[in-house]
Amino acid sequence: MARLNPDNLARAQELIALYPERRSALIPILHVLQEQDGYLSEDGMAHVAELVGLEPVEVRGTASFYDMFHFEPVGRYLVAVCTNIACMLQGAYRLLEHAEETLGVAHGGTTADGMFTLEDAECLALCGNAPCVTVNWRFFGDLDLQDFDRLVEDLRSGRLDGEVPAHGTLSRVRRRQGLMAVGAVGAGGSAADTAALPDGVQPGDGTSDAPGSAGDLPAPGTHLDLSTHRSTTATAVVDAAHLESPK
Ligand code: FES
Repeated sequence: MARLNPDNLARAQELIALYPERRSALIPILHVLQEQDGYLSEDGMAHVAELVGLEPVEVRGTASFYDMFHFEPVGRYLVAVCTNIACMLQGAYRLLEHAEETLGVAHGGTTADGMFTLEDAECLALCGNAPCVTVNWRFFGDLDLQDFDRLVEDLRSGRLDGEVPAHGTLSRVRRRQGLMAVGAVGAGGSAADTAALPDGVQPGDGTSDAPGSAGDLPAPGTHLDLSTHRSTTATAVVDAAHLESPK
Protein backbone atom coordinates (compact mmCIF):
# COMPACT_ATOMS: atom_id res chain seq x y z
CA MET A 1 0.00 0.00 0.00
CA ALA A 2 1.47 3.32 -0.95
CA ARG A 3 -0.92 6.17 -0.32
CA LEU A 4 -3.17 6.48 2.70
CA ASN A 5 -6.29 4.35 2.31
CA PRO A 6 -9.70 6.07 2.53
CA ASP A 7 -10.10 5.48 6.29
CA ASN A 8 -6.65 6.77 7.06
CA LEU A 9 -7.09 9.68 4.69
CA ALA A 10 -10.16 10.67 6.72
CA ARG A 11 -8.08 10.34 9.91
CA ALA A 12 -5.37 12.53 8.36
CA GLN A 13 -7.93 15.18 7.50
CA GLU A 14 -9.29 15.07 11.05
CA LEU A 15 -5.76 15.58 12.35
CA ILE A 16 -5.13 18.50 10.01
CA ALA A 17 -8.31 20.15 11.30
CA LEU A 18 -6.87 20.14 14.84
CA TYR A 19 -4.13 22.63 14.03
CA PRO A 20 -3.99 26.22 12.82
CA GLU A 21 -1.31 25.19 10.27
CA ARG A 22 -1.71 22.06 8.12
CA ARG A 23 1.93 21.12 8.44
CA SER A 24 1.62 20.93 12.25
CA ALA A 25 -0.20 17.64 11.69
CA LEU A 26 2.81 16.12 9.93
CA ILE A 27 4.10 13.86 12.70
CA PRO A 28 0.69 12.51 13.78
CA ILE A 29 -0.14 11.73 10.13
CA LEU A 30 3.18 9.97 9.66
CA HIS A 31 2.24 7.74 12.59
CA VAL A 32 -1.02 6.93 10.79
CA LEU A 33 0.93 6.08 7.63
CA GLN A 34 3.30 3.88 9.59
CA GLU A 35 0.37 2.21 11.31
CA GLN A 36 -1.04 1.39 7.89
CA ASP A 37 2.07 -0.01 6.21
CA GLY A 38 4.49 -0.63 9.05
CA TYR A 39 6.95 1.85 7.56
CA LEU A 40 7.06 5.13 5.67
CA SER A 41 7.21 4.41 1.94
CA GLU A 42 8.35 7.09 -0.49
CA ASP A 43 4.89 7.16 -2.10
CA GLY A 44 3.24 7.37 1.29
CA MET A 45 5.42 10.28 2.33
CA ALA A 46 4.69 12.01 -0.98
CA HIS A 47 0.98 11.66 -0.25
CA VAL A 48 1.44 13.11 3.24
CA ALA A 49 3.44 15.98 1.72
CA GLU A 50 0.50 16.79 -0.57
CA LEU A 51 -1.89 16.75 2.38
CA VAL A 52 0.10 19.08 4.61
CA GLY A 53 1.47 21.37 1.89
CA LEU A 54 5.14 20.41 2.13
CA GLU A 55 7.66 19.00 -0.33
CA PRO A 56 8.33 15.25 -0.07
CA VAL A 57 11.94 15.98 0.81
CA GLU A 58 10.79 18.10 3.77
CA VAL A 59 8.62 15.24 5.00
CA ARG A 60 11.47 12.76 4.73
CA GLY A 61 13.92 15.20 6.27
CA THR A 62 11.65 15.66 9.27
CA ALA A 63 10.73 12.00 9.67
CA SER A 64 14.34 10.82 9.45
CA PHE A 65 15.11 12.79 12.61
CA TYR A 66 12.98 10.39 14.63
CA ASP A 67 14.05 6.92 15.65
CA MET A 68 10.53 5.58 15.78
CA PHE A 69 9.94 5.91 12.05
CA HIS A 70 11.06 3.19 9.67
CA PHE A 71 11.88 3.67 6.01
CA GLU A 72 12.08 0.02 5.02
CA PRO A 73 9.44 -2.68 5.48
CA VAL A 74 9.47 -4.26 8.94
CA GLY A 75 7.94 -7.43 10.30
CA ARG A 76 4.46 -7.58 11.73
CA TYR A 77 6.07 -7.48 15.15
CA LEU A 78 8.86 -5.06 15.89
CA VAL A 79 10.70 -6.57 18.85
CA ALA A 80 13.02 -4.11 20.56
CA VAL A 81 15.36 -5.48 23.23
CA CYS A 82 16.72 -2.80 25.54
CA THR A 83 20.44 -3.08 26.18
CA ASN A 84 20.86 0.14 28.12
CA ILE A 85 22.44 0.18 31.56
CA ALA A 86 19.69 -1.17 33.83
CA CYS A 87 18.77 -3.91 31.39
CA MET A 88 22.40 -4.66 30.60
CA LEU A 89 23.07 -5.27 34.30
CA GLN A 90 20.12 -7.67 34.32
CA GLY A 91 21.36 -9.75 31.38
CA ALA A 92 20.05 -7.85 28.37
CA TYR A 93 22.91 -8.88 26.09
CA ARG A 94 22.28 -12.53 26.88
CA LEU A 95 18.60 -11.91 26.16
CA LEU A 96 19.40 -10.22 22.85
CA GLU A 97 21.69 -13.07 21.84
CA HIS A 98 18.97 -15.53 22.77
CA ALA A 99 16.41 -13.54 20.77
CA GLU A 100 18.69 -13.71 17.74
CA GLU A 101 18.96 -17.50 18.14
CA THR A 102 15.24 -17.98 18.69
CA LEU A 103 14.18 -15.80 15.77
CA GLY A 104 17.06 -16.79 13.49
CA VAL A 105 18.04 -13.22 12.61
CA ALA A 106 20.68 -10.80 13.82
CA HIS A 107 19.35 -7.61 15.37
CA GLY A 108 18.38 -5.19 12.63
CA GLY A 109 17.02 -8.09 10.58
CA THR A 110 13.57 -9.42 9.75
CA THR A 111 12.57 -13.08 9.80
CA ALA A 112 12.00 -14.75 6.43
CA ASP A 113 8.27 -15.10 7.12
CA GLY A 114 7.97 -11.36 7.73
CA MET A 115 6.68 -11.88 11.27
CA PHE A 116 9.46 -10.33 13.36
CA THR A 117 11.98 -7.53 13.09
CA LEU A 118 14.49 -7.55 15.91
CA GLU A 119 16.09 -4.37 17.23
CA ASP A 120 18.72 -3.52 19.81
CA ALA A 121 17.16 -0.54 21.61
CA GLU A 122 18.25 2.22 23.91
CA CYS A 123 16.41 2.74 27.22
CA LEU A 124 12.73 1.94 26.78
CA ALA A 125 11.79 3.62 30.07
CA LEU A 126 10.88 0.41 31.84
CA CYS A 127 14.11 0.24 33.84
CA GLY A 128 12.31 -0.98 36.97
CA ASN A 129 11.39 -4.17 35.12
CA ALA A 130 14.74 -4.85 33.49
CA PRO A 131 15.45 -6.61 31.28
CA CYS A 132 12.62 -5.61 29.05
CA VAL A 133 11.47 -5.56 25.48
CA THR A 134 8.76 -3.82 23.57
CA VAL A 135 6.73 -5.42 20.81
CA ASN A 136 5.10 -2.77 18.63
CA TRP A 137 5.59 -0.40 21.58
CA ARG A 138 3.83 -2.65 24.09
CA PHE A 139 5.97 -3.40 27.14
CA PHE A 140 7.09 -6.79 28.42
CA GLY A 141 9.35 -6.63 31.47
CA ASP A 142 11.29 -8.92 33.81
CA LEU A 143 11.93 -11.33 30.96
CA ASP A 144 14.12 -14.36 31.28
CA LEU A 145 15.01 -16.49 28.27
CA GLN A 146 12.03 -18.81 28.72
CA ASP A 147 9.69 -15.83 29.04
CA PHE A 148 11.01 -14.52 25.76
CA ASP A 149 10.34 -17.81 23.99
CA ARG A 150 6.81 -17.89 25.41
CA LEU A 151 6.28 -14.35 24.20
CA VAL A 152 7.34 -15.31 20.68
CA GLU A 153 5.08 -18.36 20.73
CA ASP A 154 2.15 -16.29 21.93
CA LEU A 155 2.73 -13.74 19.18
CA ARG A 156 3.04 -16.41 16.51
CA SER A 157 -0.13 -18.16 17.64
CA GLY A 158 -2.13 -14.94 17.79
CA ARG A 159 -2.79 -15.30 21.52
CA LEU A 160 -1.64 -11.72 22.03
CA ASP A 161 -3.59 -10.21 19.15
CA GLY A 162 -5.84 -8.32 21.54
CA GLU A 163 -2.88 -6.85 23.36
CA VAL A 164 -0.34 -6.21 20.62
CA PRO A 165 -1.75 -4.51 17.54
CA ALA A 166 -0.32 -5.02 14.08
CA HIS A 167 2.86 -3.28 13.13
CA GLY A 168 3.45 0.36 13.63
CA THR A 169 0.56 1.17 15.91
CA LEU A 170 1.96 3.63 18.37
CA SER A 171 -1.22 4.50 20.19
CA ARG A 172 -4.68 3.05 20.47
CA VAL A 173 -6.29 6.33 21.39
CA ARG A 174 -7.19 9.00 18.89
CA ARG A 175 -7.09 12.71 19.39
CA ARG A 176 -10.27 14.51 18.56
CA GLN A 177 -9.33 18.03 19.56
CA GLY A 178 -6.36 20.29 19.16
CA LEU A 179 -3.76 21.20 21.71
CA MET A 180 -5.33 23.48 24.27
CA ALA A 181 -3.98 25.50 27.15
CA VAL A 182 -5.86 25.40 30.39
CA GLY A 183 -5.08 27.07 33.69
CA ALA A 184 -3.32 29.86 31.84
CA VAL A 185 -2.74 31.98 34.91
CA GLY A 186 -2.60 30.74 38.44
CA ALA A 187 -1.06 32.34 41.51
CA GLY A 188 2.01 33.37 39.48
CA GLY A 189 0.15 34.85 36.53
CA SER A 190 0.46 38.50 35.57
CA ALA A 191 -2.16 41.08 34.70
CA ALA A 192 -1.05 40.79 31.09
CA ASP A 193 -1.62 37.06 31.29
CA THR A 194 -5.07 37.64 32.68
CA ALA A 195 -5.81 40.12 29.92
CA ALA A 196 -4.95 37.42 27.42
CA LEU A 197 -7.69 35.17 28.70
CA PRO A 198 -10.80 35.03 26.57
CA ASP A 199 -14.06 36.38 27.91
CA GLY A 200 -15.49 34.24 30.66
CA VAL A 201 -12.23 32.55 31.67
CA GLN A 202 -11.04 33.47 35.16
CA PRO A 203 -7.64 32.60 36.58
CA GLY A 204 -7.39 30.22 39.51
CA ASP A 205 -10.87 28.82 39.23
CA GLY A 206 -9.84 25.63 40.98
CA THR A 207 -9.74 24.66 44.61
CA SER A 208 -6.08 23.87 45.33
CA ASP A 209 -3.74 26.41 46.93
CA ALA A 210 -0.72 25.07 45.08
CA PRO A 211 0.32 27.27 42.14
CA GLY A 212 0.26 25.37 38.91
CA SER A 213 -1.71 22.50 40.36
CA ALA A 214 -4.87 21.16 38.87
CA GLY A 215 -6.67 23.43 41.29
CA ASP A 216 -5.53 26.44 39.28
CA LEU A 217 -7.14 25.15 36.15
CA PRO A 218 -10.23 26.83 34.84
CA ALA A 219 -13.41 24.86 35.06
CA PRO A 220 -13.75 22.06 32.52
CA GLY A 221 -14.78 23.40 29.16
CA THR A 222 -12.95 26.73 29.48
CA HIS A 223 -9.98 26.19 27.22
CA LEU A 224 -7.49 28.53 25.68
CA ASP A 225 -6.50 27.96 22.11
CA LEU A 226 -2.71 28.30 21.99
CA SER A 227 -2.84 29.36 18.39
CA THR A 228 -4.37 32.70 19.38
CA HIS A 229 -2.96 33.20 22.90
CA ARG A 230 0.74 32.57 22.55
CA SER A 231 1.68 35.37 24.94
CA THR A 232 0.23 33.72 28.04
CA THR A 233 2.23 31.72 30.54
CA ALA A 234 -0.03 28.82 29.86
CA THR A 235 1.12 25.28 30.20
CA ALA A 236 -0.17 23.23 27.32
CA VAL A 237 -1.86 20.04 28.30
CA VAL A 238 -3.77 17.49 26.37
CA ASP A 239 -7.03 17.12 28.13
CA ALA A 240 -7.58 13.48 28.93
CA ALA A 241 -11.14 13.99 27.87
CA HIS A 242 -9.88 14.50 24.33
CA LEU A 243 -8.78 10.91 24.14
CA GLU A 244 -11.12 8.17 23.29
CA SER A 245 -10.93 4.50 22.61
CA PRO A 246 -10.41 3.40 19.05
CA LYS A 247 -13.39 2.33 17.05
S1 FES B 1 17.67 0.58 30.74
FE1 FES B 1 16.30 -0.80 29.83
S2 FES B 1 14.40 0.20 30.04
FE2 FES B 1 15.81 1.62 30.85
